[in-house]
Amino acid sequence: MRMTVIGTGYLGATHAACMAELGHEVLGVDVDSAKIESLRAGTVPFYEPGLPEVLTRNLESGRLDFTTDYQRVAEFANVHFLGVGTPQKRGSYAADLTYVRAVIEDLVPLLEGEHIIFGKSTVPVGTADEMQELADSLAGPGASVEIAWNPEFLREGFAVQDTISPDRIVLGVGRGDGRAEEVAREVYAASISTGTPFLVMDRVTSELVKVSANAFLATKISFINAVAEICEIAGGDVTRLADAIGHDERIGRKFLGAGLGFGGGCLPKDIRAFMARAGELGADQALTFLREVDAINMRRRDRVVQLTRALCNGNLLGHRVTVLGAAFKPNSDDVRDSPALSVAGSLSLAGADVSVFDPQAMDNARKVFPTLNYADSAEEALEGADVVVLATEWAQFRELDPVQVGELVNRRVIIDGRNVLPVQEWQAAGWNIQALGRSL
Ligand code: UDX
Repeated sequence: MRMTVIGTGYLGATHAACMAELGHEVLGVDVDSAKIESLRAGTVPFYEPGLPEVLTRNLESGRLDFTTDYQRVAEFANVHFLGVGTPQKRGSYAADLTYVRAVIEDLVPLLEGEHIIFGKSTVPVGTADEMQELADSLAGPGASVEIAWNPEFLREGFAVQDTISPDRIVLGVGRGDGRAEEVAREVYAASISTGTPFLVMDRVTSELVKVSANAFLATKISFINAVAEICEIAGGDVTRLADAIGHDERIGRKFLGAGLGFGGGCLPKDIRAFMARAGELGADQALTFLREVDAINMRRRDRVVQLTRALCNGNLLGHRVTVLGAAFKPNSDDVRDSPALSVAGSLSLAGADVSVFDPQAMDNARKVFPTLNYADSAEEALEGADVVVLATEWAQFRELDPVQVGELVNRRVIIDGRNVLPVQEWQAAGWNIQALGRSL
């Protein structure tokens, strides 16, 4: 099939390359010419394992190309995927729909014949219906545009795998005799043939599926982090507790990783946008608990700062602190709302001499927080540290040798902000190891 993918960020670039990988002919478009140049040259402008290979393979096969030209997009295909960003609005909890609207406004007047636009961006409920009205008002006499919603559930770090073999495909369609379902079945034929559930519903429900999934995941993480707060006071061990409750199939162990909490470009902004939308719908009480989910999450960052201060005899001034990790999670270079970078920044603002190392996110971190010291290696960052904070659980940090690291630091004191280090090994090497939700 021929199709276009509008917006080439994490979501769009991955979707475009993976659709070509599945055998489709794909044209990706973005208003950012630097991004398009980079993608055309076979360079993914962010870190995503496996994606560079898929991109190059499909550029070479001729099935994949990128452009900034909307006229080309209008002529290339009748099926379009919309994957532009919906960031948090400045000064508000709500999602900013400027980019989504701009796509409809720029593309629809150029279309001729019958077109389907599949929205993939995470949007407040009601957006798809609104975009259908907007498209209807902008379509020329020879054109008709059907808007369907096809939310994306990919995780950074597993984006290729999640796009090629999703665990479910959700499609929201409008009322009437549209062709979106038939076309989507063709687009995703490979996945559907291997038994991937294909769930068709109305557009409103499909929009809600996406935000509910992310709100649930965020709630699960904050639940275990709230229990971690209790464990810290009562003297329990949240990791053993999570193992024990996780054996209950109804609960499950996934997303019960207690620690510094969630960040990134999705979970934080999606729960806030969900609350904002609930308020607009006159149902803010329904989601008040998400405020608590957000607050528990932010408190974990404060806790690590407090713990570091306590380990520096109550005063961070003049102490050297090493923060291992800047990305919001491992296998990503994304620092949006990163707990690691937030902790590093707070420690620095409180007077500590902070040294940061991350295997992939250094450039992005420098842009957001230029005043921190960025080391060229973990070893360099660890040199002379009074306290070490493990903030992002990259494999490289999980596998650090406590004996070797002990030779580099000034004091053998470490906070495991992600509950991933083998505690006994570190203790045996003479370390004072502290962790969130555990009394060690
Ligand atoms: C998330 C959703 O998982 C994905 O389905 C959606 O499409 C986009 O948002 P992503 O932002 O890539 O994906 O990250 P995810 O793997 O969900 O992790 C989110 C955050 O939660 C990370 O900061 C991670 O460190 C944290 N986390 C995750 C925990 O603190 N504990 C856990 O047990 C799991």
